[in-house]
Amino acid sequence: MHIAFAVATLLAILSAARLLAAADAAQLPEGAGKATVQKVCSGCHAPEIVVGRHETKDGWERIVSSMVDKGANGTDDEFNTIIDYLATHFPQTKTE
Ligand code: HEC
Repeated sequence: MHIAFAVATLLAILSAARLLAAADAAQLPEGAGKATVQKVCSGCHAPEIVVGRHETKDGWERIVSSMVDKGANGTDDEFNTIIDYLATHFPQTKTE
């Protein structure tokens, strides 16, 4: 009885660890706001969809508000955090 409980607990811990490892494999850079992006932006597509895009802060604001139009759920604070994170880690690179 106790052993079965211990095994079940161990299995639960192992599968939680696997989920965490999968999240770690994501390509989003570390930084304030990463967890918010993962929480708010993973409902419809992988949050890594933003990786490789480069936008000005205005550009990210437009993208995030178009996601809100599509149905993204979050507080104003969360969206501001996301825009700051994206503008910091995926800025428009000047090429002119
Ligand atoms: C309610 C669903 C939903 C949520 C939540 C959502 N998106 Fe999207 N997103 C979409 C859809 C649908 C597309 C594909 C739109 C298209 O192909 O035009 C998309 C596409 C994108 C694209 C590619 C746009 C392009 O023009 O290539 C980016 C970047 C993006 N989302 C960023 C985000 C970010 C950042 C968040 C979190 C703030 C987010 N998404 C949350 C639905 C969502």
